[in-house]
Amino acid sequence: MTTLSPSSPFIAGLVRHRVKNGGEPAALRMQYAELPAALRSVRRELLNPPAGSEDAYEAADAWSRDDYPKKGLLFLGGPGTGKTTLAVAAMRAWVEHNQGVEPVRFWDAPAGLEKVKRGFNWTPDSNQDEPEPVEKLAADNAVLLIDDLGQGKVSDWVASQFFLILNAATQNGTRLLITTNKTPSELEDNLVPAAVSRIYGLCQPLIFRNGDFRRL
Ligand SMILES: Nc1ncnc2c1ncn2[C@@H]1O[C@H](COP(=O)(O)OP(=O)(O)OP(=O)(O)O)[C@@H](O)[C@H]1O
Ligand SMILES: [Mg+2]
Repeated sequence: MTTLSPSSPFIAGLVRHRVKNGGEPAALRMQYAELPAALRSVRRELLNPPAGSEDAYEAADAWSRDDYPKKGLLFLGGPGTGKTTLAVAAMRAWVEHNQGVEPVRFWDAPAGLEKVKRGFNWTPDSNQDEPEPVEKLAADNAVLLIDDLGQGKVSDWVASQFFLILNAATQNGTRLLITTNKTPSELEDNLVPAAVSRIYGLCQPLIFRNGDFRRL
């Protein structure tokens, strides 16, 4: 079995076929972005900016119209402050603004890295998806949403995987949307300096200062 990444020739062909048959390109792109079910109905129009985080919402709006000085956004803040929700809303708005012409991808970093680890033992006859080299996440997509960067224990191996992704994003001009619970100094402590440098090279940091929506 092969991995059906949003940018794979199979999905690209399927999208073309479905567009020819009357499918809406942006909706189709989002359908293949590998969004978790709970996030598929997220739309920017449905979100009011909470007090303290207006600048992140303004940046997301400008970014999704390709009207922002940086290629990417780094959303920092505590749990439940709405980082993932706004990142998904921005990705959808970008896809709609660009009429679904390019593939985009949601990537849950902790779960995605776990999958890469399990893939170490992959063989062509194992009944599992072929592991996807992490750098392809950035190389093959116009927008990559890295959700929960640095969540959990950041071993040297995990840090090196982040470096590979960020380096590929830098080389390919990939637009990044990154969410993290880590503080800027924790990012510095957990990632290799060259990865942190690439994050800030590509992304504008924005801090969510509102409270936890889950506790309201
Ligand atoms: N602007 C908003 N208005 C109302 N509810 C919101 C808003 N943004 C997000 N939410 C809701 O708040 C909850 C938490 O949002 P989300 O998962 O995006 O937070 P998060 O910052 O990514 O949290 P974590 O760091 O734990 O991953 C969700 O139920 C989401 O639907
Ligand atoms: Mg989140």
